[in-house]
Amino acid sequence: MVSLDEALSFVRARFFDQPYRPQYFFRDKFEHTLRVVAWARRLLDGQPADGRALLLAAAFHDVGYTVDPADHPLHSARLCREFLSAHGEAPSFVDKVCAAIERHDDKPSIHRADTPLEQVLLIEADNLDERGALCVLRDALAVGCEAEPSYLGVYRRLLRHPMRREKFVCRTEACKALWEEKFALYNAILRSLAQDLGLPEAETDADGGEEDCLDEADLRAGGL
Ligand SMILES: [Fe+2]
Repeated sequence: MVSLDEALSFVRARFFDQPYRPQYFFRDKFEHTLRVVAWARRLLDGQPADGRALLLAAAFHDVGYTVDPADHPLHSARLCREFLSAHGEAPSFVDKVCAAIERHDDKPSIHRADTPLEQVLLIEADNLDERGALCVLRDALAVGCEAEPSYLGVYRRLLRHPMRREKFVCRTEACKALWEEKFALYNAILRSLAQDLGLPEAETDADGGEEDCLDEADLRAGGL
């Protein structure tokens, strides 16, 4: 039976041997993987899900970036299938893990009744990373890479990409509670930044609309 450590060792080596270079050096995919595994562990508490399947899916979910970022869920699932099969895992278990990986970019699927719980929790864990405090750090570092970085530039970038309300990205109560915590912190940081920068109160509220924190594509589109 494959352990999570063995899976993570494989994934770490894969990212090392065939590096995926994100637009920003600080957005290391293996570090993201470890954080998603940690979020998945937290979300598992009290859930009737297959915990080993979920954690293995979290470990492998983005390793396909080493092949092709555009189709990474398919490549991640293939690499995972090869690894688990080579280690003698039962075909039904391999199918369960790989199905969650293959569909982890289908974010709206968390709200469909027939979506397996492992897939829901993987998507939620992925959604929780780089949100709240880490989202602020990420945008600050991104602006720091611009030609003329400024505190105001960071603030305005944060305002342009407010966090979504949890109803868009969470299904389980555990995820909703975590998201609400991050959402409150994010907005408190925005208000505090506005005060620190001497801006009017009117500019301080992220409205929690459809936009979200920047992802890699947004950053590229922004010419960063
Ligand atoms: Fe991910």
